[in-house]
Amino acid sequence: MQAIPSIKVWDLPTRIFHWLLAILILLQYGTAEWHWLSMQWHVWFGYATLALLLFRVTWGFVGSQTSRFADFVAAPRRALAYARDLLADKTRLDIGHKPGHNPGHNPLGGWSVLAMLACLLVQTITGLFSSNHRHSEFGPWAARIPEQWVRRLTEIHQINQNVLLVLIGIHIAVVLAYWIGRDENLVGPMLHGRKPLAPMAPLRFASLRRAFGVVALAAFVVWVIVAAAGVGA
Ligand code: HEM
Ligand code: HEM
Repeated sequence: MQAIPSIKVWDLPTRIFHWLLAILILLQYGTAEWHWLSMQWHVWFGYATLALLLFRVTWGFVGSQTSRFADFVAAPRRALAYARDLLADKTRLDIGHKPGHNPGHNPLGGWSVLAMLACLLVQTITGLFSSNHRHSEFGPWAARIPEQWVRRLTEIHQINQNVLLVLIGIHIAVVLAYWIGRDENLVGPMLHGRKPLAPMAPLRFASLRRAFGVVALAAFVVWVIVAAAGVGA
């Protein structure tokens, strides 16, 4: 059998985003649930997570082809058709050939990426307004809004962290199922960027300079959000 050449599908910024995000989320649970460091670090890591998410959302519009929402958010009908093909085992190795089979996220995976990003944004944004009942641990905006809103948003922060855990659990289970059940390693490409794919039209990649610009913008926006609360870090 002829070896399938590998083609670059994930750009460096998206790969760095992914693994940095995974590390930061681990640190967020570590600091909030397992007494790692202190809650002050939870808040600082939270700012970094928010900046990373703002980067990724912007990169979804101005980044490389496979990172753009327009590239991987498929109509629900296409996602269902893909699910049917997946169950009938018709998706193997023809990725990139059939319309609807994408070199980047597949039509189902695209929706799970959106769900994770939305859930992470809810978690980080509610964190900005959260406070524990003794007010010894609080986000920068907690002292600026009415007490009952703080209670409500803290509740959402507490409930949504479980939703996030479920989404991450499904995410990792699906990645492992592709690997073990279908012999498709998706983790390698998220590390080195390349996937074995049949020849196809070249993908478009955005420059690193643009990625730096978007990172700087995202960091600036988070700085403004924190500074505007006026409570120090
Ligand atoms: C994706 C990012 C985040 C994750 C996964 C996360 C996770 C958590 C978890 C698991 C808790 C404990 C909740 C409980 O008691 O059941 C917590 C509490 C808290 N988080 Fe976050 N958090 C994130 C982002 C943030 C951010 C950005 C801030 C503030 C800037 C923040 C501020 C707080 C505060 C003040 C508490 C204490 C509230 C309480 O006692 O329930 N978090 N967070
Ligand atoms: C806190 C943990 C994690 C979170 C929040 C997370 C989140 C995400 C997100 C948002 C994406 C979309 C990437 C993008 O387009 O920007 C993604 C993709 C991916 N993640 Fe994770 N991830 C986590 C942990 C992991 C782990 C531990 C693995 C390895 C077992 C993994 C493997 C992958 C792979 C292979 C993809 C690409 C999937 C594809 O080919 O469509 N992730 N993840």
